[in-house]
Amino acid sequence: MTKYDEMKKIRDELVDFKQSPIYPYRTANKYFPVIGEGSHDAHIMFVGEAPGKTEAKTGRPFCGASGKFLDYMLSSIGMVREKVYITNVVKDRPEDNRDPTPEEIALYAPFLDRQIEIIQPRVIATLGRHSMDYLMRKFGLELELEPISKIHGKLFEAHASYGPVSIATLYHPAVALYNGGMRDVLKKDFEVLKKFI
Ligand code: URA
Repeated sequence: MTKYDEMKKIRDELVDFKQSPIYPYRTANKYFPVIGEGSHDAHIMFVGEAPGKTEAKTGRPFCGASGKFLDYMLSSIGMVREKVYITNVVKDRPEDNRDPTPEEIALYAPFLDRQIEIIQPRVIATLGRHSMDYLMRKFGLELELEPISKIHGKLFEAHASYGPVSIATLYHPAVALYNGGMRDVLKKDFEVLKKFI
């Protein structure tokens, strides 16, 4: 199967993901699952938490207010969306924008695991603590886990099935929207990705 076919299979499974407790809410609101977007050969993969309303309405990750700030940070390191891959741990929008539950994360994570195997990124940038928590544990970095306020902007070295992978622990871009004073911190942290361009 080509990368495209494998990704399409993930899409088809997620569209029909009736086992998810969010499935009835998605269909009742005519929302889309948000699979991911970008290059299947990306060196840099971004993983957020779960789609927001704008994303669920369009089926595209980070296309709302947080996405605008993500685009701005990408351009600040000379990157564009088309050259990276952007997705989330949970592919459906939890109702009322609540945090995903541990059960939902466990249910959706195997799709993310498969996307990582398809893309084989050199660095996975986690956006926010849920994504950081899941991915650091997945790659055996649980002993290095600390609150995001302590380890934001750091790079951790790990091993994937396909070779070495770095995990970059970044704040969620929404942080800069509700606390403008954090914009420069997020922008500075983003610079850890420069060496993967
Ligand atoms: N927040 C996320 O974590 N992911 C999105 O796709 C949009 C907002």
